[in-house]
Amino acid sequence: MYKTHTCGEIRSSHIGQTITLAGWVHRRRDHGGVVFIDLRDRFGMVQVVFNPDLPQKYAKIISNVRLEWVIQIIGSVQKRPDGMVNPKMATGEIEIIASEVVILNPAKPLPFMINGEEQMADENTRLKYRYLDLRREKMKDNLILRHCVIKFIRNYLDNKGFLEIETPILFKTTPEGARDYLVPSRVHPGEFYALPQSPQQLKQMLMVAGMERYFQIARCFRDEDQRGDRQPEFTQLDMEMSFVERDDVMVLVEGMFTNLVAEVVPHKRLLSQPWPRLTYTEALEKYGKDNPDIRFEMILKNISDLAVGCGFSVFENAVSTGGSVRGINATGCGDYTRKQIDALVVFVQELGAKGLAYIALTSQGELRSSFTKFLSEEKIQAITTRMEAKQGDLLLFVADKTSLVFESLGRLRVKMGDALGLRDPDVLAFCWVIDFPFVMWNEEEKRWDPSHHLFTSPLPQDLPLLDKDPGKARGAQYDLVLNNYEVGGGSIRIHNRDLQEKVFKLIGLDPEVAQERFGHMLEAFEYGTPPHGGIAPGIDRICMLLADEQNIREVIAFPKNQAARDVMASAPSAADANQLKDLHIKIDLGK
Ligand code: AMO
Ligand code: AMP
Repeated sequence: MYKTHTCGEIRSSHIGQTITLAGWVHRRRDHGGVVFIDLRDRFGMVQVVFNPDLPQKYAKIISNVRLEWVIQIIGSVQKRPDGMVNPKMATGEIEIIASEVVILNPAKPLPFMINGEEQMADENTRLKYRYLDLRREKMKDNLILRHCVIKFIRNYLDNKGFLEIETPILFKTTPEGARDYLVPSRVHPGEFYALPQSPQQLKQMLMVAGMERYFQIARCFRDEDQRGDRQPEFTQLDMEMSFVERDDVMVLVEGMFTNLVAEVVPHKRLLSQPWPRLTYTEALEKYGKDNPDIRFEMILKNISDLAVGCGFSVFENAVSTGGSVRGINATGCGDYTRKQIDALVVFVQELGAKGLAYIALTSQGELRSSFTKFLSEEKIQAITTRMEAKQGDLLLFVADKTSLVFESLGRLRVKMGDALGLRDPDVLAFCWVIDFPFVMWNEEEKRWDPSHHLFTSPLPQDLPLLDKDPGKARGAQYDLVLNNYEVGGGSIRIHNRDLQEKVFKLIGLDPEVAQERFGHMLEAFEYGTPPHGGIAPGIDRICMLLADEQNIREVIAFPKNQAARDVMASAPSAADANQLKDLHIKIDLGK
């Protein structure tokens, strides 16, 4: 037997027992003949003492042992001497006096430290040696948290009558707005499977099949540009329910996460219950984005009406060309230096805005501004009143096409929220965003694109708009938003062939292509399809926020790097000539 106990479980109640432990050398201190080792396994850490009276052969072994070697020891549990108790360690009241030691596997000098005594390595080094990186306590805790989240979800949904059903990975294109990963078929030359961007079609088929309540911890694959909250493969809690309306899905999910937070991260608190519901328009108007952080105010204010004829041509032109002028009040930043303000200007310019106009009301009662010299006293007064400004505040304005105003101010608001410490990580501000436009105009392609995916139903009351004014129709969809991230999206689906075909037509999908890609769904809708809807919360993003991390890679055991590579195993990599021949593939890297 390698171990009778785990390192983390030894307590005063074990005093006097002889035990066997195995684990990693976390720390090693040599106090002139007495060697102390903190021995670590997944369950915790315990101090092991190697006294000078240890038999010669063991003393020799222990003199060689270095960090991260895997060793096994036999020893007796003793109370620590007075004054040596370590209240910071769960096992801090006791220590193990070793009588035997065996080396199970030595370790080379480490590429980076694991015991938290040195600075963090750069990310590529961490990913290359991910098996070492995961030994760090924070990473282990993140994986444990993820396990607890998934375990909670499974139990919760099981209790609510859901079935967990696996769906294929080798499938057909399931568009969610990204490129597909393709897998060539050996047995069918020239044909490809597509890895699902989500199990969307399959879960709808399960509803046609009468399963009524389905979920899956589902891997999804999307070939898209990487960001901190995106991975080429990621995990969704994929769910679908029959005979439901929008509210039924939202209420179920809200209940699940409310209970999950209380059980899995009890040190965090929800901002409000029930969760706020914002319409898409409201979210943009107030926060500049459809995935807002509602933990703090700093609401966007529209001053377009005041900009008309105000004398500052930047503002006037924005409004006269159909755009708008909006601003935020960064309360308490009125004494920002020129350099600090310039940094904010650069920040919005990098997002595409042409500039950032400001009014700083200093704590000394002065007004500094980049544009008020063009304005009348009354105008300045009207603007500061609209902005609810007082002494010590900094008002920041962007004038541009409205989408750019939202984009830049929405992000600036979050940045200022950070600067002012308003984004408390222990507060979880869930909210729903609803009433998205059903379709959005794609100017480049000159067509309507679905704002969610092409199986989403319009709101029933907006159906007539599909013919008259499709841009005004709202989708029966809902986004789940948490602390500035979209952490889930879903909708009530179309469940009859006619409407589905009509929507395909609206978004310019050629009927033949529609038939080739989605003929199976259209056909299924003619065999008794229940009304249904669902949602897919993103497990990685949710775990990231629960674990106070900035990047989903921190909650994924083996993620890809920013360039979509696995740097540990070095993937993707070239295939050998025979494999390619079997797959009927020729590589052409020429231009
Ligand atoms: P959607 O495309 O909105 O909906 O995705 C749902 C959620 O999945 C997460 N997510 C990602 N997480 C990490 N890396 C990515 N590349 C990535 N892409 C998406 C987000 C997102 O909110 N089939 C629909 C769901 C439905 O209608 O039921 C779908 O996939 O948290
Ligand atoms: P300019 O007239 O370009 O020197 O700009 C005067 C001030 O207006 C500067 O503070 C600019 O950063 C700001 N500014 C310029 N363009 C915009 C814009 N589109 N929206 C908001 N402020 C702007």
